[in-house]
Amino acid sequence: MTTMAKPALHTEPIAAASGKLLSVSDLHVHFPRNKSGWFQAPEVVRAVDGVTFDIARGTTLAVVGESGSGKTTTALAVMRLSPITAGHIQLGDTNLGALEGEALRKARARLQIIFQDPFSSLNPRERAGATVRAPLDLMQVGTPAQRIERVAELFNAVGLRPEQQHLFPHQFSGGQRQRINIARALATNPELVVCDEPVSALDIAIRAQILNLLARLQRELGLTYLFISHDMAVVEHICDDIAVMYLGQIVERAPRKAFFASPLHPYSVALMSAVPTVHGGRKHAAQRIKLSGDPPSPINPPAGCRFAGRCPVAEPACVSELPPLREIASDHWVRCRRVDLVDGRPHAPLAMPAA
Ligand SMILES: Nc1ncnc2c1ncn2[C@@H]1O[C@H](COP(=O)(O)OP(=O)(O)O)[C@@H](O)[C@H]1O
Ligand code: SF4
Ligand SMILES: [Mg+2]
Repeated sequence: MTTMAKPALHTEPIAAASGKLLSVSDLHVHFPRNKSGWFQAPEVVRAVDGVTFDIARGTTLAVVGESGSGKTTTALAVMRLSPITAGHIQLGDTNLGALEGEALRKARARLQIIFQDPFSSLNPRERAGATVRAPLDLMQVGTPAQRIERVAELFNAVGLRPEQQHLFPHQFSGGQRQRINIARALATNPELVVCDEPVSALDIAIRAQILNLLARLQRELGLTYLFISHDMAVVEHICDDIAVMYLGQIVERAPRKAFFASPLHPYSVALMSAVPTVHGGRKHAAQRIKLSGDPPSPINPPAGCRFAGRCPVAEPACVSELPPLREIASDHWVRCRRVDLVDGRPHAPLAMPAA
């Protein structure tokens, strides 16, 4: 039995805490799908198709993109809850992608996930306290008495009263239910918390409370977040770095300030133009860059730039060649052949509409 880890604040010096916690390189997750015809080869859904990123300890990487771009599949692969077709996932000193059996079971305490829907992720017949306690029982953390104490601490930490442990999910509001999910995710003292659209199902008024809670817990516990959202406005204030996904690939990756000051990929610019609260974004609906059509299918994706069919500034060569993800400025990566340096500064081929 492992001894109970103290929920105390992390006290590592800043220098030691600043290294990478998670490194994902060239991750592929492909799902074979049988075709209806007898002799036809199975199709392959290329849900994640060569994704690379790092997250420094104690920081947040936001992954943003439309529905179907591969965000959840990336998250599930990092959690080792989805098969990995190819690529490398490193968590601190551990080659997470290669772990199996007991070693993987032990490593699971280091990573936890919070899902979008605070309703369906809770068992309606289980009391809130038992839900939060379950990972401690599963991982056999501490003595039974210590686990009871830990659950009460966790309720306090997420802004619930310890006596609310005895209630069932339907007796809580949506925001409170997401607090229970957060408490459960924190139970094993994880290093990495994957947040998959954690506020998308909540009322606007409640979203800020949950985002503030996540930010406070990150500061107090030194947590590292992989924060997934389809909504630029949600991630603008909470991330340190941002990665924009389109059809299974990252099309732009940058520190938050550099990205929001000047998004470079035409898809990023289009996403930003739809966000009224982002500086330089649209003030009037007429200013929004409207993309035609839906993203193409991840089954047999286009050979060239995957955004070419919808890109307002595409040129003929875009269709034939997949652009690499290049570092156009310090730590600012973009997958577009038309992003150039003009007078030493990166220049976006599609301008943000004037506000
Ligand atoms: N288990 C699966 N089998 C087949 N296709 C899948 C599976 N999971 C996801 N997909 C497909 O992979 C693509 C990416 O899905 P997902 O990662 O859920 O995107 P997002 O979270 O960005 O909305 C979608 O086209 C989806 O239909
Ligand atoms: S490579 Fe071409 S099609 Fe793709 S985003 Fe850049 S300009 Fe648009
Ligand atoms: Mg998703």
